Amino acid sequence: MHFTPTNIEDLPTPCCLIDKAKMQRNIARLSAHIGNLQCTLRPHVKTHKSIEVTKAIIDAGNVKGITVSTLKEADYFFKHGMNDILYAVGITPNKIAHVAQLIQQGCDLTIVIDNEDMLSLVLDKMAEHNCVFKVIIELDTDGHRSGVNPHSHALLSIAKHINNSAHAKFEGVMTHAGESYACFTEKAKQNMAAQERDLTLHAVKRLFEVGIHCNTVSIGSTPTAFAVDQLDGITEVRAGVYVFFDLVMAGLGVCDIDDIAMSVLGTVIGHQKDKGWVITDAGWMAMSRDRGTADHPQDYGYGLVSPSGSHEARYIMSDANQEHGIITEVSNASPESHSEKHIDSSLNSSAENNDSIFTQFPAAKAIEILPNHACATAAQYDHYYVVENGVAIDKWLSIGGW
Ligand SMILES: Cc1ncc(COP(=O)(O)O)c(C=O)c1O
Repeated sequence: MHFTPTNIEDLPTPCCLIDKAKMQRNIARLSAHIGNLQCTLRPHVKTHKSIEVTKAIIDAGNVKGITVSTLKEADYFFKHGMNDILYAVGITPNKIAHVAQLIQQGCDLTIVIDNEDMLSLVLDKMAEHNCVFKVIIELDTDGHRSGVNPHSHALLSIAKHINNSAHAKFEGVMTHAGESYACFTEKAKQNMAAQERDLTLHAVKRLFEVGIHCNTVSIGSTPTAFAVDQLDGITEVRAGVYVFFDLVMAGLGVCDIDDIAMSVLGTVIGHQKDKGWVITDAGWMAMSRDRGTADHPQDYGYGLVSPSGSHEARYIMSDANQEHGIITEVSNASPESHSEKHIDSSLNSSAENNDSIFTQFPAAKAIEILPNHACATAAQYDHYYVVENGVAIDKWLSIGGW
């Protein structure tokens, strides 16, 4: 697609920007780490849903297939040449016909299950199709969300049940340590990474003891992928948000604020001088409703005004309506200070500071805001502008919906 390079001030707002150099740096960092541990990555493309970002990840090396969160993503990435795809959300009977269609077209698609009831229901549906479905059992290694307890009897009985079916083949196990999003210290992240890996290997051993081999042993989240120091027995690591990073990852110490490769560009609509507010045309539709830093020591509201450029990390989107964002100055603590919970409030903005916020952000100024959760923000858009040195050099499409 032809794109005429455009200064970011001239882009229609709100829109979503990707800093290409930062993205490539983030991608290279995890590829190198996982490569050093003699393992491979299965990137989760739900973060960006973009073929161009996926190609950049593959170019960096150590990649084995992709992870998707919707069958629409599976369709899209298969059409663009990705063959080895893990659909990492528990399967349901009403999706089996779609999965069968992809398999019959030649897609090496693996699905995920974590309970016997659903397995019986999907096996009935599988019998209607002339193909074999590769199935992975999801493990719960941290009590975070879904999955089978690695110590449970259910693990063995589900695996046997899969292998006893003519329509399904047991492929292995996977887990996602979502609780790593509550690990603020290096030690906590390392412990969570070890727990994710070791409980998964425990499940593999128990299956092996009853004669069931795991081809795939898949673990991962961005915080644990960076914290893990040994991956013997693990066949792949999944991670998604690391390509862009975000304020949640910065808050956990997985990256610096300067590493965040995604931002939302808004334009200053007006000033509420008595309240100390600058209003932008980027509200929660542009940022998403995700308030991932709400329980962090530093709460950034709906986003942090990018400190790159003339101003410091002093302004946040402290409140948002659908198409309005309220930008206020962070009072008291600096955004980097995690020593105490800081809750921003426009009411804390002093009269002197109000002058500077209005000088920093005059009417019609373009304003870049870093997101709490890059996956949630990216999902608000069907395209991104790719930025190099302050100029949008390309436009990349993304695939939303189900
Ligand atoms: C099953 C699964 N695997 C991997 C990931 C990637 O996690 P992260 O974005 O922390 O890298 C997710 C994210 O939600 C997930 O649900």
